Amino acid sequence: MTFVITENCIKCKFTDCVDVCPVDCFHEGPNFLVIDPDECIDCTLCEPECPANAIFSEDEVPENQTHFIALNAELAKIWPSITEVHPALDDADEWNGKPDKLALLER
Ligand code: SF4
Ligand code: F3S
Repeated sequence: MTFVITENCIKCKFTDCVDVCPVDCFHEGPNFLVIDPDECIDCTLCEPECPANAIFSEDEVPENQTHFIALNAELAKIWPSITEVHPALDDADEWNGKPDKLALLER
């Protein structure tokens, strides 16, 4: 079991989640974070920390976002690790909750 970051992180990237992870399994892209499923120990600590409510347990990912399970696994192999909180992206509050952000994902 792993936790998964879903669409509402895109263009927000608050990074509060990074602070609580005991095994440093977050990886960072230009405007999105992902969780490495091979490193996540299913501790649940990150889920309530996300101001965008973008983190779900693998078995609770909303049906319309299950493609993010494979996307986290794919991008975690490519993107560098992030272990410290950074400032959120500009306009993060404005983008929080906007629909259809997948097309805006930068790789
Ligand atoms: Fe890290 Fe725990 Fe979140 Fe997995 S569930 S990403 S181990 S904080
Ligand atoms: Fe993204 Fe939420 Fe972490 S917006 S960077 S999953 S705190």
